[in-house]
Amino acid sequence: MNEQDSQPTGGEVTPTGEFGSGAVRLDQGHVIGDGGIPARFENPGFPPHPHRGTDLDEGAAKRAERVVGGLFILSVLGTLGFIVAYFAIDSDATVFVPGIGMTNALHLVLGLTMAASLLGIGLGAVHWAKTLMPDHEEVEMRHTMRSDAEHRKEFGTILGEGAESAHLTRRPLIKYAMGGALGLFAVPVILPVLGGLGPMPGDDLSVSFWNGDQEEDGKYPNKPLRLMRDPQNTPIKASEVTIGSVFHVMPEGLLDLEEHILEAKAKAAVIVMRLDPDDIKVQKEKDWGHQGIVAYSKICTHVGCPVGLYEQQTHHLLCPCHQSTFDVTQDCKVIFGPAKRPLPQLPITVDDEGYLISKGPFKEATGPSFWERGSA
Ligand code: FES
Repeated sequence: MNEQDSQPTGGEVTPTGEFGSGAVRLDQGHVIGDGGIPARFENPGFPPHPHRGTDLDEGAAKRAERVVGGLFILSVLGTLGFIVAYFAIDSDATVFVPGIGMTNALHLVLGLTMAASLLGIGLGAVHWAKTLMPDHEEVEMRHTMRSDAEHRKEFGTILGEGAESAHLTRRPLIKYAMGGALGLFAVPVILPVLGGLGPMPGDDLSVSFWNGDQEEDGKYPNKPLRLMRDPQNTPIKASEVTIGSVFHVMPEGLLDLEEHILEAKAKAAVIVMRLDPDDIKVQKEKDWGHQGIVAYSKICTHVGCPVGLYEQQTHHLLCPCHQSTFDVTQDCKVIFGPAKRPLPQLPITVDDEGYLISKGPFKEATGPSFWERGSA
């Protein structure tokens, strides 16, 4: 029904025919006055509401329904094409496109299929709204912003009725095609996100250069490695590590790597300090140090900054990023800040020449706690 011609009553009209004070024109002939009282006016000149062909002719409505369904199905096909292309097309494959030249085939197909997916939904929704959705013009009153409980309840009822009047029950093709289009639409969004997360780290984080090279049987030789000054790359004698001193250390042989040196160093970086053995309060593994010399991972267990600040007096290691503080006298337990676990300890001893060497690798993964941690 076209309600435009209904005449609101009450309120004022100026002698010139203007709307009364505070009268508000909304949309398409909606006119109301102060305090929700409709302004009294003749039809101010809005054209009669034109009825659509689909309102008058069920055949036209059927055709529109098929077009809308077809567009949603196009979206479904686009989405399915995207999924298939994502798995089937080699990421390095290229294809010649006239006017562009050689281009990446996967990106091209993903772009085209996603465009079909989006366009299908968008055009389908627009065509549906323009041809088949209810087409009424109504006069509404402007109220205070917050509705009272009764009206909010009424709104819920109207919403339900709206869904009913959208003919979803009468037009199952649209209902199911749109459901498929919207349901599958999330897949192209999720797939690249999951793919972009990369592979699971496995034991990559619990194995560092201190483990040595992996052997054919998949095991690590656990070969002792000298502790080398960073960056000088010279070995450290235990006698050089005086109480209160601190050394930044990397494993022997790390700089001989031909590639991924920084990555290896990031996992194997160690900080070495000497404490008076009487100052050590807690030491789970008593033979992991040497006469008060202890070595801990330098990678903060919060989000991985280098823990480089050592307070000699308190024996605290500080992470400059978010102020996590580790107490070296208590196995590098976290005593302040956001880190959730102690710094992993590297077991050390000395070799025949008095140089500091590792006794074995870290027994747990170094680095941030949110990384998957396994045992070495
Ligand atoms: S990275 Fe060390 S406290 Fe945040």
